[in-house]
Amino acid sequence: MNTKVIVVANQKGGVGKTTNTIHVARALAERGKKCLIVDLDSSAGATTTLGVPTVGWQTIFEVISGEVDAEEAIITDQDVEVSLPQNIHLIPSSPRLNELDSFLNRDENLGIVAQDLLMAPIAGVRGRYDYVLLDSAPLVTKTTFPAYKVADYAILSTQLEKLSFERLESAMKLISSAQRNGNNRLALLGIVVTMAPQPTTRLAMHYLNLIDSTYLSEEGTPVRFEALIHRNVAIQEAATAKQTLFEYQPGHRVVNSYRHLAGEMEDRIKRRDLRSAAQTPQVANG
Ligand SMILES: Nc1ncnc2c1ncn2[C@@H]1O[C@H](COP(=O)(O)OP(=O)(O)O)[C@@H](O)[C@H]1O
Ligand SMILES: [Mg+2]
Repeated sequence: MNTKVIVVANQKGGVGKTTNTIHVARALAERGKKCLIVDLDSSAGATTTLGVPTVGWQTIFEVISGEVDAEEAIITDQDVEVSLPQNIHLIPSSPRLNELDSFLNRDENLGIVAQDLLMAPIAGVRGRYDYVLLDSAPLVTKTTFPAYKVADYAILSTQLEKLSFERLESAMKLISSAQRNGNNRLALLGIVVTMAPQPTTRLAMHYLNLIDSTYLSEEGTPVRFEALIHRNVAIQEAATAKQTLFEYQPGHRVVNSYRHLAGEMEDRIKRRDLRSAAQTPQVANG
């Protein structure tokens, strides 16, 4: 299986990264794709929103620190203690992730290259999933840059307001830095606009236009995904009920927006795969 590792980022809290990670995974899962969500935030938003308690499991911290293999920390859709949606597996997080700093500072760990601390964990799951989605933390923490270092693609979440638009620029810089520092596979898959007001306000329109004129793909098309995720209360109610909106209110139009988004993502990935196949010289047979 040709696994695609996708980091969902933008270093600002509350821009919908976790919600987007879970719902994008859910939309991909519905398309029959096997997805693994890796929660890289010590506040464990993805873990708890999926109804998984942060105690009683091996977590991403134990995987990074080498106490267990990635495989042993995976909670599957078959696990009876929780009820993950079909085709969605999870490596949970917990506040223990805050111990990463002190872990890296121990004498015996000084040889660990901090920016590559997700290399081994992700290598351990490649080949087993269609998609591995990395839900990053709101601040640039010890796991943020490593996530960019192991990912094939980045998706940036933004709201239509000043601060989260400005943070896109810092995320772009982290992407180029990861590219320069050994991950030349990494590509920006797209920008997801989330919590868009409805009806669209003039201010929202201003930021939509600004995103589209600022961030263009190599082909000159907007990097922004067409699918807009509108602000809605149901998604918060679903989170409180520890469900995705797909389970909580299957007919909700935001469910369709996430389906649209997953479709756009897969189209872009397919196009890039075709382009790189065309660029790879084929060895003639006989
Ligand atoms: N489309 C949306 N409409 C309304 N509220 C949303 C939407 N997406 C996310 N939220 C809510 O906004 C808050 C922050 O979202 P979250 O996904 O946790 O962001 P982040 O992971 O970037 O910190 C959560 O309470 C979440 O339920
Ligand atoms: Mg989050």
